[in-house]
Amino acid sequence: MQRGLFITLEGLDGSGKTTQIKRLAAWMQKRGLVPVVARQPGGTTTGDRIRELLLDSRSSGLAPMTEMALMFADRAQAIAEVIEPALAEGKIVLCDRFTDSTEAYQGGGRELGSTTVLELHRLICGDLQPDVTLLLLPSLEHSLDRARKRNERTTAQSGTDENRFEQEQEAFYRRVWQKYREIAAREPDRVVLIEGDLAIDEVHEQIVEAVAMSFSEFHKR
Ligand code: TYD
Repeated sequence: MQRGLFITLEGLDGSGKTTQIKRLAAWMQKRGLVPVVARQPGGTTTGDRIRELLLDSRSSGLAPMTEMALMFADRAQAIAEVIEPALAEGKIVLCDRFTDSTEAYQGGGRELGSTTVLELHRLICGDLQPDVTLLLLPSLEHSLDRARKRNERTTAQSGTDENRFEQEQEAFYRRVWQKYREIAAREPDRVVLIEGDLAIDEVHEQIVEAVAMSFSEFHKR
């Protein structure tokens, strides 16, 4: 059985990833492809519990190393339970965030550095690399504004509190944003950078173009 295709979506909070994943999944389904959609943190029974710990603003004083270790614990579980089995069965896996998020947020935002993150990725995740990563990077100002609005809405509607990251200061997000750019520059073959404040349809078109290209590479394998 030919191994499946591993696609990840990355970007800051408020970059429009969730909308784009839904549209991309629908685009695939129209073509008779049924992707396995995953997200991090979370997506497994254990992972959802880790997610709660990580995102709840009551988890105050979480040390950066603890935060990073929990992200990797969640990822190890997702790889074992969802991602690897699906890839082994030849399926397409569409994952909302992966190790680039840890490099950007913990490596960049929390200033733990890329080396530590990449080393842990090698040890814990067997260095599993996406075939293609779609990185949505609207301007920092635009992303922050959207994240703030979404967060106010979510809390008002459901009373759930996943605000721990949204409470971070602008300097934190600036470091995350810069680290994402650094990753894109370092790995141009894997990372497709979709920059600027584009309309939802324009971003979707760029995503579809990149995914269609990775499909044709995939069929040549
Ligand atoms: P989520 O609500 O899934 O955000 P989004 O819809 O923007 O993806 O929350 C995930 C948060 O966790 C987000 O702020 C980014 C952060 N995060 C890390 O800091 N490191 C990681 O490795 C991952 C996967 C997420």
